[in-house]
Amino acid sequence: MTQESVPTTEELATAGVRLEIHGALARITLARPERHNAMTGRTWTALAHIGHTLSRSVRIVVIDGAGASFSSGIDLAMFDPAGGLPGEQSLLQRLLSESDDSATHASLDADIASYQAGYRWLRRPDIVSIAAVHGHAIGAGFQLALACDLRILAEDAQLSMREPALGLVPDLTGTKPLVELVGRSRAIELCLTARTISAREAHELRLAELVVPNAELDGAVTDLVDALLATPAGAARATKELLGQAGENSLEEQAAAERAAQIERLQAMAQRLPE
Ligand code: ACO
Repeated sequence: MTQESVPTTEELATAGVRLEIHGALARITLARPERHNAMTGRTWTALAHIGHTLSRSVRIVVIDGAGASFSSGIDLAMFDPAGGLPGEQSLLQRLLSESDDSATHASLDADIASYQAGYRWLRRPDIVSIAAVHGHAIGAGFQLALACDLRILAEDAQLSMREPALGLVPDLTGTKPLVELVGRSRAIELCLTARTISAREAHELRLAELVVPNAELDGAVTDLVDALLATPAGAARATKELLGQAGENSLEEQAAAERAAQIERLQAMAQRLPE
């Protein structure tokens, strides 16, 4: 099997993304500040590409935004019936120009799945993903923060699930974590009003692990990264796997999973001890 090559600088630049890797830490920065880091299909496929090719030594992925915001969501040019982004048809143009409904449906389904892949890998057990959010996190930007395991918000953060207000649904994997975090009723209220959630309310609703003054965001992320990296990698991965299953498993199943994981941990410890 040939190894997939890592994203090129050109691919990342076209996607509006910067990637820096220092040892166990990868930092992904959404980098179209002149558009409040609006994202395109290329942003999401580049995120997926980063995930597929991430070095196995990376244990923490931090996602943040350059400029005034985390992200203003999808680039609205993707809906423009009269045009799209340079070199691309907009989603609506495709629907208007293609006559075969079932083929269009299949190709849109495949495209949305490829966009979702940019979000889904952030839940992998071998990494912990952290969204460091300041300014606006709207629509696809809010969903990107929800795709991460943990969220640290600056005091000026403003979250909004804008899709329903635009006649759409949130389709970038955001509905499940939103319901898990805030409950079904609150999720309905937030999505169907598309209202803005302040950082303080986000904390109350369990949408943020921590809220800090803007000037302290970087420091708070560094402290969290250091604390996470202090835990041995094998134990961190196994524990994240267990916590990931806990919601779906019965107590019986979860207890069995804990036993199996613990025996693996003990075996790993025993192998490291001198004979
Ligand atoms: N897509 C494309 N361009 C955008 C987007 C976007 N999502 N968001 C901002 N921009 C552009 C603006 O059009 C403006 O461009 P211009 O300088 O050429 O006029 C520039 O970024 C700066 O934005 P302003 O609106 O001037 O900045 P302001 O601080 O007043 O407002 C805000 C920022 C709140 C983010 C506002 O721009 C906004 O509401 N944007 C649209 C958000 C949106 O509806 N996103 C889609 C959600 S649904 C989804 O993601 C699937």
